[in-house]
Amino acid sequence: MSLLSRCPVVPVVVLDEPDQAVPLGEALLAGGIDVVEITLRTPAGLPGIRRLSALPDLLVGAGSVLLPSQVDAAVEAGARFVVSPGVSADVLGRAAEQGVPALPGVATATDLMAVTALGLDEVKFFPAGLLGGPAAIRALAAPFRDVAFMPSGGVTAETMGEYLALPVVPAVSGSWMAEPALLRERRWDEVTTRAAAAVRR
Ligand code: 3PG
Repeated sequence: MSLLSRCPVVPVVVLDEPDQAVPLGEALLAGGIDVVEITLRTPAGLPGIRRLSALPDLLVGAGSVLLPSQVDAAVEAGARFVVSPGVSADVLGRAAEQGVPALPGVATATDLMAVTALGLDEVKFFPAGLLGGPAAIRALAAPFRDVAFMPSGGVTAETMGEYLALPVVPAVSGSWMAEPALLRERRWDEVTTRAAAAVRR
């Protein structure tokens, strides 16, 4: 199964503390979301991925992956996919060597040509809101008929449906289900509520 067809919403998470990871994962699963992207933007990212590997029903990936060495570290910690904000042939090559799916971030037709030339057909569209939202995806997708897009960056509970209405968008991603403030305040019920609302849309 393709990565993007697994779940229509991929929460993007910035962990402050590794001990937020498991209650967060359990809260997302309780809301019906079984995939999560833990960013490597904070020192808690890798240990958080390692702890989440204890939840067998949750597909855990690493986000904000900028370097091949981070692919290695993420996979070693238990990440089963990697997401990047842009296109790096080195990162994509290392992910292929490690045998994990990679979602490169694209913003232009040039990015899409680079990615499709490498044989990939699933991408993150980032930052989706600033790039023009669903209309931009509709225009960019036209010449790339086999590419599936995961918009990210500025997608909200209110706008996700407009993106998912596009046939080329099997999934969206965003941080609203797992905002840092919710994690700091350990408001796991609210995470579950937002996750459930997102999968219901
Ligand atoms: C990110 O870069 O953090 C993701 O694209 C999510 O963006 P968001 O916080 O606007 O949902």
